[in-house]
Amino acid sequence: ERVDTFDYVIFGATGDLTMRKLLPALYRRFAAGQVPDDARIVGTARSPLDDKAWRERARQALGEHVNDADSSVVDRFLAMLRYVSLNGADANAHWDGLRSLLDRDDRVRVFYLATAPALYGDIARNLDAKGLRTETSRIVLEKPIGTDLDTARRVNEDVGRYFPENSIFRIDHYLGKEAVQNIIALRFANPMLERMWDRQSVDYVQVTAAETVGLEGRGGYYDGSGALRDMIQNHLLQVLTVVAMERPVSLDADALRDEKVRVLASLKPLDRDDLGASVVRGQYVEGTSGGKAVPAYNDELDGEAPSRTETFVALRAEIDNARWRGVPFYLRSGKRLPRKLTEIVVQFRATEPGLFGDGHPGSRLVIRVQPDASVTLPLFVKHPGNGFALEEADASSRLDPGAAGGFQDAYEGLLLDAVKGNPALFVRKDETEAAWAWVTPILEAWQRDEGGPDAYEAGTWGPASARHMLQREGHAWAEDAAA
Ligand code: BG6
Repeated sequence: ERVDTFDYVIFGATGDLTMRKLLPALYRRFAAGQVPDDARIVGTARSPLDDKAWRERARQALGEHVNDADSSVVDRFLAMLRYVSLNGADANAHWDGLRSLLDRDDRVRVFYLATAPALYGDIARNLDAKGLRTETSRIVLEKPIGTDLDTARRVNEDVGRYFPENSIFRIDHYLGKEAVQNIIALRFANPMLERMWDRQSVDYVQVTAAETVGLEGRGGYYDGSGALRDMIQNHLLQVLTVVAMERPVSLDADALRDEKVRVLASLKPLDRDDLGASVVRGQYVEGTSGGKAVPAYNDELDGEAPSRTETFVALRAEIDNARWRGVPFYLRSGKRLPRKLTEIVVQFRATEPGLFGDGHPGSRLVIRVQPDASVTLPLFVKHPGNGFALEEADASSRLDPGAAGGFQDAYEGLLLDAVKGNPALFVRKDETEAAWAWVTPILEAWQRDEGGPDAYEAGTWGPASARHMLQREGHAWAEDAAA
């Protein structure tokens, strides 16, 4: 259905995220008839562009990132775009240009901050001081919110001074992914799974987010961040909350987020003693990707001194509550791994040995998030003929995020949720802080540590230490178990 008309103001309008994700997502929703023609998308950045020049860049971006763009629809879409040259962090900048464009305070206003996070507080203050924040304004914050617990709190406080929490939309695009949302349906709409979703039945859980890409020219950001901050603190812990949370009383934003934050608060702290056994960090050295030779992280980065930034993390988390106590949740993410794969594996306990010979391996539920989305829960059946040899009957459902009414990209639904004012799939202040509270001691321990990340060859599944971490507990990563 069509949303009410709006003004979307993007700070960081010439950046990579705007071009690669935000404009294509808004375009697709426009092409699907959800965005009214009189909505406006206002780009701001420091570059001295005009409407025409920004529209040209947008046209090019749509050409690259939307494969079925229709040129007459593109023209209508581009007509909604305006550009204001403005440094949003500067109170003395020329704010009149933006103010005169935003002349309709009866419309929903979305301020999307796709800038360096260090600017969020200043931009929020200026929006307030310049009278641009209305009753129906929302502010969307891209990750990373801070670089550790202290800085995250500061960002939250700074923005919170000018925008009430229910108008702050911290985006984590993994929550916009169809298969991630599906975890909620799978868990709570299937009594069989619901009853098995605990320490009695689940042996362990794995969440993998593997990428084949390396730095993609983002070395400036990435080297100051690393995989723990870039992927684990946000995307993987968000997935973990959805897998592990208790049944929420409803699907309303706060009911859902209350349960998610409880999971984060119940994560067992990884103290110094555990750390060595429970966290592995890696950095890729030269190897191959997609059949081509690729350089080591440090050569790609081309910095002065070798960097110790991790491009891979595997860790063992435990949730200290009645449902999950003792069940390992293995999370891992890395760059330059063998393939692009995001997947959740819930391994159920093995059956009693005896009846069918050896103990029978338990079933595993596999929720594939990407590249293709699917849910697989094999059942064991009898092999035809004499005897009771078992075989797996594949029970696999393909999910189709791009089907009619669905979204090709996670950003599409989330960008419209911000217009509608529904923050259910956005991260609340206490969630961000709870996630940072758990992650920060790991960062601090690494800082104290003389050593660095373990090396792994590009195009492999990370350092051997990641495999050993599971082997010690008689477990295996999905690709090793399949081999
Ligand atoms: C971003 C990270 O948040 O997520 C990137 O900053 C990463 O480093 C990306 O590549 C992965 O997103 P997706 O949707 O491709 O899994």
